[in-house]
Amino acid sequence: MDQLELRDDEIEALGMRGFFVRDAFLGKERAHAVHSEARERAQAGTLKPAGIRRGADRTEDTSVRDDFIGWILPEAGSALGSLWEAFSELGGALSAGAYLGLGRFDLQLAHYPGGGARYVRHRDAFPGQSNRRVTAIYYANPDWRPEHGGMLRLYLEDGTLDVEPTLDRLVVFLSERLEHEVLPAHAPRLALTAWYYGRDGAGLR
Ligand code: OGA
Ligand code: MN
Repeated sequence: MDQLELRDDEIEALGMRGFFVRDAFLGKERAHAVHSEARERAQAGTLKPAGIRRGADRTEDTSVRDDFIGWILPEAGSALGSLWEAFSELGGALSAGAYLGLGRFDLQLAHYPGGGARYVRHRDAFPGQSNRRVTAIYYANPDWRPEHGGMLRLYLEDGTLDVEPTLDRLVVFLSERLEHEVLPAHAPRLALTAWYYGRDGAGLR
């Protein structure tokens, strides 16, 4: 496989607007394999409701987010394992191309079951507080149609942009900079999200 490299326009977009979108990240065949494995995990019933509060009563807080999540670990020979490798390379490319000084990352599978499941407007990190620097989301929805909803809404300086969660699409944004939300999904929606941490543990200024 060719070494993953960022294009100049992607690096520029990340700096200027705080994000970029790349289609055909893995190629059709690998993308479908990721979709199959991700769907299997979702159907196996081992994912956990993401909206559980960490507080005393641990009740489900469905007003914030309605997805079910699990962590993806490196694993040789599987499609999700190869996606993990691709995210690892992406981290290296972001550090080399955009001087972001990224270190480790976590990779999460999120399944929105449909029925209007959403994730309200939020940020993944807060300046000076978190060491999450970059968010990268990979979508695994081969049959996505506009009526399925579940767009990723990005809140940019000059308005909002809705990104369709289509198969093999990658969205990369600065975790502290961009507010975003998942609009209500009316069909099952699969996303794999990596959060890259700063090598020094400090936030990006
Ligand atoms: C998140 C998130 C967006 C998406 O998990 O923090 O914002 O498009 N996900 O799945
Ligand atoms: Mn988020």
